[in-house]
Amino acid sequence: MSQRLSFYIHIPYCAKRCGYCDFNTYTPSELKSGDLDSLSSSYIDSALKEIEMAAQVAGNATIPTIFFGGGTPSLLPAAQLARVIEAIRGRFTLDKDIEITLEANPDSLTQEFLDEIKSAGATRISMGMQSAVGSVLKVLDRTHNPESVGRAVSMVRAAGFEHVSVDLIYGSPGETIDDWRRSLEYALALDIDHISAYALIVEKGTKLAAQINRGELTMPPDDQSADKYLLADQHFEAAGFNWYELSNWSKPGGQCRHNIAYWDGSFWWGVGAGAHSYLNGKRWWNVKHPSSYQEKILQGQSPELSHELLTPENLSDEFIMLQIRRREGILHNHLNSAQIAKAEEFLSSGFLDSASWQDMRLVLSRDGRLIADKIVRELVL
Ligand SMILES: C[S@@+](CC[C@H](N)C(=O)[O-])C[C@H]1O[C@@H](n2cnc3c(N)ncnc32)[C@H](O)[C@@H]1O
Ligand code: SF4
Repeated sequence: MSQRLSFYIHIPYCAKRCGYCDFNTYTPSELKSGDLDSLSSSYIDSALKEIEMAAQVAGNATIPTIFFGGGTPSLLPAAQLARVIEAIRGRFTLDKDIEITLEANPDSLTQEFLDEIKSAGATRISMGMQSAVGSVLKVLDRTHNPESVGRAVSMVRAAGFEHVSVDLIYGSPGETIDDWRRSLEYALALDIDHISAYALIVEKGTKLAAQINRGELTMPPDDQSADKYLLADQHFEAAGFNWYELSNWSKPGGQCRHNIAYWDGSFWWGVGAGAHSYLNGKRWWNVKHPSSYQEKILQGQSPELSHELLTPENLSDEFIMLQIRRREGILHNHLNSAQIAKAEEFLSSGFLDSASWQDMRLVLSRDGRLIADKIVRELVL
């Protein structure tokens, strides 16, 4: 049987950088080029060459999922993204029910784009909504208003996509519990089958971090973040969205299979500037800037910047870190006796689900999910 390999395709462009975001993405003005169409066509030429390299290394693998992430993939002409899907189709065997996801910003979506990318094979759209409250979107420095998300979801459904997800962010400066409740209610009124909800991280070097350092914005207290997580979980579960990973909820059949592949330790190839890959115990990452990436490829070189070889200990620690975040949890026989003893302390404090523990699985309780990082630190050290 051929090897299974997921593809991540990094699209490092955004119309404008949001104040909180430190992803590997560039605006046309940062790249000193106002023309995204020509930028994207030469970037995709390079991506196709990297896909050729992947075929040399991985042979005729079977592809269960492709994920276009960013940046903002929906900014590119659909025809450019379609070239990538075609190249993968030409070099590998696509699973019959392949999942092909595209991250999208609600502002950049048009019906024409969605129809085109759907015909090219995309099956799932994941949209950055973040909040339904105008003042919160303003603090986050987003370009869209709350209504754009509703319009965009309707267009996605009109194009015939079966799976639609929205990303939410909670804990922005100035966001009240009522603001967050409004965002949850707005999201749950949309025709979607998946929601990701992330606590805002203040990344060093961002505009948001500078605003906080200057005292112009203040982060809400930490315990409010826990309240917001619990409120989200209650709303989502009541609406039929089940948690399947700490920050991800879905209706039955709506889980993101690409993300599950990462968490399961499956193999994936990250194509593009700064993309990470993992194959046969080796993890590597590409040079970060799109120009350096394209230069390397043009010179016929691998775009790899550096790599690490994972030891069995690395793999087992990583397995615990990722699996503990999932509803399936960890089978007891993946834990050593010291880890079982530690876990029993968390069980007696109510941080693990006792029914699952009886079934020989370590699964976090709702309260346990709030301190997942602490539990992981104690289990893997
Ligand atoms: C690549 S973006 C999604 C697509 C598109 N670029 C957009 O923002 O609409 C991936 C998601 O990461 C999340 N994210 C980015 N920076 C974050 C931060 N500092 N804290 C929490 N979530 C963040 C946002 O929810 C964002 O939707
Ligand atoms: S959150 Fe999305 S749209 Fe905003 S800068 Fe980051 S990648 Fe771009």
